[in-house]
Amino acid sequence: MKPATALIHHPYRAPDGWDAVPVPVAKASTVLFKDTADLHTPRPRDGLTYRYGLHGTPTSYTLAARIATLEHAEHCLLVPSGLAAVTLVSLAFLRPGDEVLVPDNVYGQNRYLTESWLPQWGVTHRFYDPLTVPELRDNTKLVWLEAAGSITLEFPDLLGTLAFCRERGVLTALDNTWGAGLAFNGFEPAPGKHPGLGADIVMQALTKYPSGGADVLMGSVCTRDDKLHDRLNHAHEHLGYGLGQNDVELVLRGLPTMPLRYAAQDRVTRELASWMAGRPEVARVFHPALPGSPGHEHWLAVGATGAACLFSVAFKPEQGPREVDAFVDALQLFGIGYSWAGPMSLAVPYDMGRSRNLPLPFEGRTLVRFAIGLEDGDDLRADIEQALSALR
Ligand SMILES: Cc1ncc(COP(=O)(O)O)c(C=O)c1O
Repeated sequence: MKPATALIHHPYRAPDGWDAVPVPVAKASTVLFKDTADLHTPRPRDGLTYRYGLHGTPTSYTLAARIATLEHAEHCLLVPSGLAAVTLVSLAFLRPGDEVLVPDNVYGQNRYLTESWLPQWGVTHRFYDPLTVPELRDNTKLVWLEAAGSITLEFPDLLGTLAFCRERGVLTALDNTWGAGLAFNGFEPAPGKHPGLGADIVMQALTKYPSGGADVLMGSVCTRDDKLHDRLNHAHEHLGYGLGQNDVELVLRGLPTMPLRYAAQDRVTRELASWMAGRPEVARVFHPALPGSPGHEHWLAVGATGAACLFSVAFKPEQGPREVDAFVDALQLFGIGYSWAGPMSLAVPYDMGRSRNLPLPFEGRTLVRFAIGLEDGDDLRADIEQALSALR
């Protein structure tokens, strides 16, 4: 055998028995079958058998199992981004003639999918006020929930909306990126476990907390119901939602520190949000754990044990978009960029007039959303304080 062949068909196989704390990284496009009989044997699409690297390897199945545990789920599918998790749910369940309901403070790309892509496939939509239980119609197939919602962070009436939809047999999907599986259990109550909320499908952008490094894009879609999982799995299988196993490894590394990071970021975020609420330049602070923030009572009602790393600030009307941009530019420790739950704090100005369909629930269109990282809280506060002088 010449070297070119021998290097590929080498007989050495590592012996069984290796064990260590990290999960080994198994990468493949091709997965090898023992023989043709093995090839011809039908394999259940159960997340336990291997046929082709696109559908999963031992590394991604390990992460999927851990995310299922985190979310109190029976099944978990991994996808290449949080947005892919959103599209997987909508594409798997919505058919021509169906209606989907979306909260008005939904993640922007879910809004775009709903308004710009789904109509091409005959799916209609309505946006609803996240603080109320939406009206359902005969053709309402799917209701999206996001807790807390994007940018303005209103905490929805999760208990009321999920119970209402469940009684009427309407499917619900919760974007649980903010709660990260730590603040509350999105599924129905399970005996002996944290009381659940009753969603049918719970998805997350693993890009945020589970990764924690601001270096990975990934998403998860979890269910407790076998039939719902089969439908999602079928779509997953045929829409090409593959993952890079090096990215899976990074999320596996991030998971054990996630509860500690979540708690640390939550603490500093609450301190800064409360302090900002007392500043003379500020009209309103949005943070679900602050009394008076929209949906605070719903956040209390679900018994949430955390409140993540985000808060948004509406400045007094005399501060226009230009002044607010100058404030953000004056921040030294806050990066200007999207996403959150990474090590570096971020600040982004938003013009809310352009990103809502229903009337704005507050005065003043320009908000700054802060995502608090892992820096020291006193340093972040001093930085915000010095940047506020740009507003004067
Ligand atoms: C609430 C929420 N859901 C989903 C996503 C999408 O995640 P990704 O950036 O991984 O596509 C984001 C991203 O910001 C988000 O904030």
